[in-house]
Amino acid sequence: MLKVGVLAGGGGTNLQAIIDAVESGKITNAEISFVLSNNPGAYALERAKNHGIKGIVIDRKAYDREAFDQKLTETIMSEAPDLIVLAGLMIMIPQALCREYKYRIINIHPSLIPSFCGKGYYGLTVHEKALEKGVKVTGATVHFVDEIYDNGPIIMQKAVSVKAGDTPEILQKRVMEEAEWQILPAVIDCIANDRIRITDNHVEIID
Ligand code: GAR
Repeated sequence: MLKVGVLAGGGGTNLQAIIDAVESGKITNAEISFVLSNNPGAYALERAKNHGIKGIVIDRKAYDREAFDQKLTETIMSEAPDLIVLAGLMIMIPQALCREYKYRIINIHPSLIPSFCGKGYYGLTVHEKALEKGVKVTGATVHFVDEIYDNGPIIMQKAVSVKAGDTPEILQKRVMEEAEWQILPAVIDCIANDRIRITDNHVEIID
């Protein structure tokens, strides 16, 4: 059984998609062992509580960067998850943790990487930039996390159409519903069932 630790900073709709997929059997051989947030007010923590999942808060504002990184690393190492899922986390993961958990940290990003990603591209901003550029197709990406923003090997992507009259909020909702809430649970299920092969830093999903 794969022990999954979910790190979430906000509303936690992606966390909810994972919880629902575990409860409905869309994800097999995995359990969420904790939900950790850097934001004490994150609704993700409430969602965890509602489903009897352990919640952990490490308030980013209570520490300087170095102390925060150390506390986060120590806490995660002591929880010892098999997989760390970044589901709406708006902070950078400490480098030591990235190295220790190589190919065991995944992130959901609300665009088709390498478009609209990297430092400063998170949450609604990603959709604002996509609309500003006038792209006709956007989407979401699940990738492994390395030491560079949104850079690690891509695992799964799903495209979503941009429509006339879209606002960043409308587009964000469509990308979540049509892409994020589908591919993040799907990737966790693949990992839990050993269906991911990595060769030369490229990912293949085995049917
Ligand atoms: C999601 O759209 C996720 O892709 C994005 O933040 C949102 C969190 O929503 N993540 C990033 O932008 C990371 N670079 P949620 O809290 O409802 O899951």
